[in-house]
Amino acid sequence: MAEARERWGSRSSFVFAAVGAAIGLGNVWRFPYITYQNGGGAFLIPYLIALITAGIPLMILEYAVGQKMQSSPPTALRKIWSKAEWIGWFAVVLVFVLATYYATIMAWCVNYLYYSFTQAWGTTGAEISNFFNQTLLGKSGSPGILGGIQLPVLIGLAITWLLIYLCLFKGVKTLGKIVYFTVGIPWLILIIMVIRGLTLPGAINGLNFYLTPDFSVLLSPKVWLAAYGQIFFTLSLAMGTLIVYASYLPKNSDITANAFMTSLANCGTAFFAGFAVFSTLGYLAQSMGVGVPEVATSGLGLAFVTYPAAINLLPVAGVLFGALFFLLLLTLGIDSAFSQVEPVVGSIVDKWGFNKKWVLPAVVGFGFLMGIPYTTRAGFYWVDIIDHFVCTYGLTLVGLLECIVIGYVFGAPKVRKYINSVSDVRIGPWWDVLIKIVTPIVLGASFIFELITLIRKGYGNYPIWTTFTGIGLIIVLLIVSFILSKKKGGNP
Ligand code: TRP
Repeated sequence: MAEARERWGSRSSFVFAAVGAAIGLGNVWRFPYITYQNGGGAFLIPYLIALITAGIPLMILEYAVGQKMQSSPPTALRKIWSKAEWIGWFAVVLVFVLATYYATIMAWCVNYLYYSFTQAWGTTGAEISNFFNQTLLGKSGSPGILGGIQLPVLIGLAITWLLIYLCLFKGVKTLGKIVYFTVGIPWLILIIMVIRGLTLPGAINGLNFYLTPDFSVLLSPKVWLAAYGQIFFTLSLAMGTLIVYASYLPKNSDITANAFMTSLANCGTAFFAGFAVFSTLGYLAQSMGVGVPEVATSGLGLAFVTYPAAINLLPVAGVLFGALFFLLLLTLGIDSAFSQVEPVVGSIVDKWGFNKKWVLPAVVGFGFLMGIPYTTRAGFYWVDIIDHFVCTYGLTLVGLLECIVIGYVFGAPKVRKYINSVSDVRIGPWWDVLIKIVTPIVLGASFIFELITLIRKGYGNYPIWTTFTGIGLIIVLLIVSFILSKKKGGNP
């Protein structure tokens, strides 16, 4: 390329950016609940094993690919094997689809931050749930009935994309400063929330449910699949993000140390967030005179229904804690959101040499437009459906293909030699085994397992055609990736 490659201002900028990408909404609303559901404290065993045997090895691999090839995923993979460029594009189109609905969830958070000042969501449980489902989302009852656009969601979406644009438009150096805030602020809020949560009556009951170990679950394959699935999702693996971020590092940065820092910071934060969530759930259950399992939820229900209910009950400063919670979700989510856009922009710039000044607004504008269907009354269902297909099948496929290309075609020992030549902590031949055998087996097994479940039951309680739409989407994305890889690039 004619111009010199963009660079992070410092190594810590890169680490914070990668940590920010990893720590997202999933850390608050997915990890604590999955832990609770899969054996409590005992779940930490499969989780840590998944981290060590698959999460960190694959992260090391992605860092090595980006850093050694100094390019975004498609170009980096082409340099490794001329036939592999489409795999990079597949990751990029997947992460773009992820960005479009992730931004929609952020749009809901933007609205709730606004509502939190007046606790507009109402007081009783039924009111709060109705507020989310009807007032905000206007749920149509079926994914086939789009209904009209929900204006507040559309406005939230526009604000989200504007924020993404503002974070990215000054380039990687400035981004490297922004990430200190988008990681630091959530950490600060989490500390406040944990202290507040633990001092509430009933908190300890919640924590008991979160962490009391049930070791019998360790025999269940489902628990292991949940652990591996959560690890891939939470570390933002197999979506091009880590490759593009690492490509802005100098070639001699320490890869293994970066990988250990990123993954430990991410998983530590998730574990810590569980204390904020479950202490509050314990309080809510006690106040309502019910058991913790009756209020324990995950995902959207937790964030937009259960948590507001708990906030309403707080004896003091409910408005403050409500605002803090949604500010937490927004600041947690925004660096994940822009880390989904950067690989798209970087890949186009790297392949065709266009000016980033124009590529970024084009991608942001297109992303906003593609998000509009999610602002309709059927949007909620489509966020759920598309999320399942992108994160379950797309992510697994990309991870599997990366392992095969690097492990077998390029040769794991060659990559390991490079990694060790720049890293203080050296990795042994065990890494080759993990990349060539363990990780592909886990990814392949979960792909097959999920596919069988899908064929037998379809996804969710939706009409069957939505399952075909999901499968169709993955196939279309694959075709698009092939086409993009065949196009002539502007760069050698
Ligand atoms: N890790 C993010 C979270 O916990 C979500 C995520 C999954 C992601 N894959 C990604 C973020 C790829 C950025 C890029 O919420």
